[in-house]
Amino acid sequence: MTDLVTTQIADGIARITMNRPDKKNAITLAMYDAIVDGLKAAEADPTVRVAILTGAGDAFTAGNDLVDFMQNPPDLAGESPVGRFLAGITTFPKILIAAVNGIAVGVGTTMLLHCDLVYAADTARFSMPFTALGLVPEAASSLIVPAMIGHRKAAELFLFGDAFDAKTAAELGFVNEVVPAADLAAHVEAKAKRLTGLAPSALRLTKQLMKSTTSGVAERMKEEGAIFGAQLRGPEVAEAIGAFFEKRKPDFSRFAA
Ligand code: COA
Repeated sequence: MTDLVTTQIADGIARITMNRPDKKNAITLAMYDAIVDGLKAAEADPTVRVAILTGAGDAFTAGNDLVDFMQNPPDLAGESPVGRFLAGITTFPKILIAAVNGIAVGVGTTMLLHCDLVYAADTARFSMPFTALGLVPEAASSLIVPAMIGHRKAAELFLFGDAFDAKTAAELGFVNEVVPAADLAAHVEAKAKRLTGLAPSALRLTKQLMKSTTSGVAERMKEEGAIFGAQLRGPEVAEAIGAFFEKRKPDFSRFAA
């Protein structure tokens, strides 16, 4: 159990909040499990029609906890908290809305690809800095992002890993709508409330039909997971994460290309 994720269910809506604001809601192993528990509770409760995922404080999430990455290298493709989280978020059958209230790094951005609706604060920033960490894309983002925006733009986002703003995220298709930060929570509540008034089986089946075109997701997550895991145990990641905590730039010059 962790109080670093809270799930509140009321009025047909499950609100799942990553609640570790002092660490920009970086996700630990226990937090992945707690998010999955929240999704399971939402799925099992027949009164719940919609789930909202958001972050406490000024960040959505800074992605996977980097200490955990080094101390407990996860198996993204299998029986691990991250693996269960990725499986949980990709197969959640009800409507899942992300309220991106601030920075969304790594899995913070790639998880959005599996949400049905994504609303972002105008202050939100997105990035997938996998290569900068010596890593590769996950959550089937290497499949979904090129399909969404083409190889050319996807290559730029993934290879450089630069952050982009909410307006760009909306233009690229990561986000439905950008709203002033102060209005985000109310905006998302209103969208969720509207969904609770619609026919629930029609919503679920519509989601199911749309998701059936994105076949290959589970296979790609497996493929990414194997490479990600091997990289995670390698010297490039050790250098990158060491540099982050030592507050310096990583030096990859000693590694062969
Ligand atoms: N894992 C563990 N701790 C993290 C973290 C992460 N992914 N992201 C941030 N933190 C911690 C910082 O170490 C810092 O802790 P401290 O106060 O004990 O020093 C605290 O959260 C605040 O972060 P800070 O870097 O001071 O905030 P910022 O506003 O200057 O920058 C980020 C925010 C998200 C841009 C920056 O923290 C960052 O780049 N984090 C790493 C993101 C990342 O690489 N994630 C993995 C992607 S695969």
